[in-house]
Amino acid sequence: MKFDSAAGQNVIDQGRIVGKSYPRVDGPLKVSGLAPYAHEYHSDAPNAAYGVIVGAGISKGRITAIDTSEAERAPGVVLVMTHRNAPKQFGIGHAPPGGTGPQQDEKDGGGEKPGRHNKPQLQGPEVRHFDQSVAFVVAETFEQARDAARLVRITYAVEKGRFDLAAEKDKGEMPEDTPDSNVGNFDSAFAAAPAKIDVTYTTPDQAHSMMEPHASIARWDGDQLTLWTSHQIIHWGVDGVAGTLGIHKDKVRVISAYIGGGFGSKLMIYGDPILAALAARQLGRPVKVALTRPQIYNHTSHRPATIQRLRLGAGIDGKLLAIGHDVWCGNLPEGEAENAADQTKLLYAGANRLLRTRKTELDLPLGASMRAPGEAVGLLALECAMDELAEKLGLDPIEFRILNDTQFDPEKGPERPFSTRHLVECLRTGADKFGWSKRNPKPGMVRDGRWLIGIGVASAIRNNLVMASGARVRLSGDGVLTIQTQMTDIGTGSYTILAQIGAEMLGLPMDKVRVELGDSSFPQSAGSGGSWGANSASAGLYYACENLRNAIAQRAGFNSTDSQFADGKVSAGGRSRNLADVVGKDGISAEGKVEFGDLTKRFAQAAFGAHFAEVAVDSVTAEVRVRRMLSVCAAGRIINPQTARSQCLGGMTMGIGAALMEDQVVDKRFGYFVNHDLAEYHVPVHADIPDMEVIFLDELDDKSSPIKAKGVGELGICGVGAAVANAVHNATGARIRDYPLTLDKIMAKMAV
Ligand code: MOS
Repeated sequence: MKFDSAAGQNVIDQGRIVGKSYPRVDGPLKVSGLAPYAHEYHSDAPNAAYGVIVGAGISKGRITAIDTSEAERAPGVVLVMTHRNAPKQFGIGHAPPGGTGPQQDEKDGGGEKPGRHNKPQLQGPEVRHFDQSVAFVVAETFEQARDAARLVRITYAVEKGRFDLAAEKDKGEMPEDTPDSNVGNFDSAFAAAPAKIDVTYTTPDQAHSMMEPHASIARWDGDQLTLWTSHQIIHWGVDGVAGTLGIHKDKVRVISAYIGGGFGSKLMIYGDPILAALAARQLGRPVKVALTRPQIYNHTSHRPATIQRLRLGAGIDGKLLAIGHDVWCGNLPEGEAENAADQTKLLYAGANRLLRTRKTELDLPLGASMRAPGEAVGLLALECAMDELAEKLGLDPIEFRILNDTQFDPEKGPERPFSTRHLVECLRTGADKFGWSKRNPKPGMVRDGRWLIGIGVASAIRNNLVMASGARVRLSGDGVLTIQTQMTDIGTGSYTILAQIGAEMLGLPMDKVRVELGDSSFPQSAGSGGSWGANSASAGLYYACENLRNAIAQRAGFNSTDSQFADGKVSAGGRSRNLADVVGKDGISAEGKVEFGDLTKRFAQAAFGAHFAEVAVDSVTAEVRVRRMLSVCAAGRIINPQTARSQCLGGMTMGIGAALMEDQVVDKRFGYFVNHDLAEYHVPVHADIPDMEVIFLDELDDKSSPIKAKGVGELGICGVGAAVANAVHNATGARIRDYPLTLDKIMAKMAV
């Protein structure tokens, strides 16, 4: 079904089950260890061999010699694959036979390169980044493979690489998909503005740091490949594997039923599924590969560092006159730019606007989407710059933001209104609940013993992305509804909310609904990415359920438009029948799919929020402790407040990480990330997390989907780090523009 006009009143509005909190239906499986992750399908992969990837020890250059003889002789080794004997594969530009045509949809379509998910392995002596696959050792046991991997002797010719973003940034070019945005006359408006700031912020490379490492099991049955792998978007995984191997995509089945987090790191495939598949085919037996934690940091992807210059000019009335946001980032040639100016397009009014992104080539590992790509790091800069300008104007930071609210896309004008936008309500509600009026606007004034106390705020915005998504539903004779879709649950609650949608639509209790996810043999779905999953997958399921309702009503001899589904019965015209009796012992199945029309073009669609943080900074050591946080979110219908709240708490936790800890340190001599484990790449732990609260404002967005929901997960991270940084400034007077705000940086600037 094409969703191209605002949704009217529908079954979801009943709110019998949708909109209520339900604990995760997959929770018992998770906590009892019964939910199988990619590496755990032991009985499906009998007699599996174990593969270990050998990563390049240099960042740029060539392999001049590779000696595998010792590794091949090592106990248990059954295969050593290098560029000398690896089968030919296909890179970007090569769609799999059968094409990716129907795989492409709105967001993914238009100009996307065919085969963009391909990841060929061991195709030549060239080394393009540290820990790129240079050999693959397969043995009877993991330990044997790991030991033999150390016996592969490689000699390299090292070439000079480019690893320093600051040094390379001026060679950057405008990426094709991130054109400059130039409205009005920024230069003259900025020059004439009575109040202005011109500040540069930097954000470091960051690691996704999901719990479950990338892992794959490959099994061939004739020419049919089954891959259990940890992947967020099943059809992208199928495309990548089929495209790389040059086999028809119908020959690849990808299963990712349970996923231990992704945060963007599993939107693409890396070495594990390809090497597992190649070796399994050659050996005629299943092969398992799991990356070690240290491998993940350099072998896979990360969020690229940014340098961001913010030039904001305002009148003495506090209205923004000029908004300039320049972003510099780096990546391998095939990698995308970090779109850190994206939120600046929409967040505040202002007639003169100049947004530019420049991507320069670096020889670091691939940069890719991570945890709200774009906004998450863009807001770290913009929302601190807004605070800086408010301070200069002598305005309260919240009032300054409210003064510059807009109800339409400020680049396109009133003809492109927001579908819904409740930023002001988020700010006001949060100010009230958090006790903003008690904040002392003068930094460094509030003490609690040796601690300096500060409060900060930031606006949140995250684009509402939508993706085509389908589902198959079946009501069986025992009255159980089974839902099947390629949608994934990466720890987010997809199983639970899809059960709620199904239960609501068919008038069933939650315990009569079974949800099966993450299998490419199910209808293609939006998958988990960009916070589009819950809304898009629910919408696809909604249409599938509508088709099922019609089929059931027809079988019952009822007029489908009048039929009501409640309490396990279908009723119409005063007559009522048990669903189980109507569908009979064979059951009834239906499929449905949502495709999105141009509503995202006609209306600016985004979720909004306001984040508040209170920090304590040790006046002697400059150690920062976050004491309290509050996020107020307006993100359309909240399908399940409990799982949505958990999403936001996760985002807020990540925001603390971005503000205070997370930093992949680049060795600029050798070109790799030095800290490559969770002991040295710091993310917040429980002891770092304060009292956190989340408030969802009542909101329905009828332009977003028939569910009237929007993306919510990533909204939780967008802006949080800036609220923390603004609180650190309020506490200490130190304005640190170089993330993360570690104590050495704060101490150097602390006024006390
Ligand atoms: Mo998200 S960074 O699109 O998983």
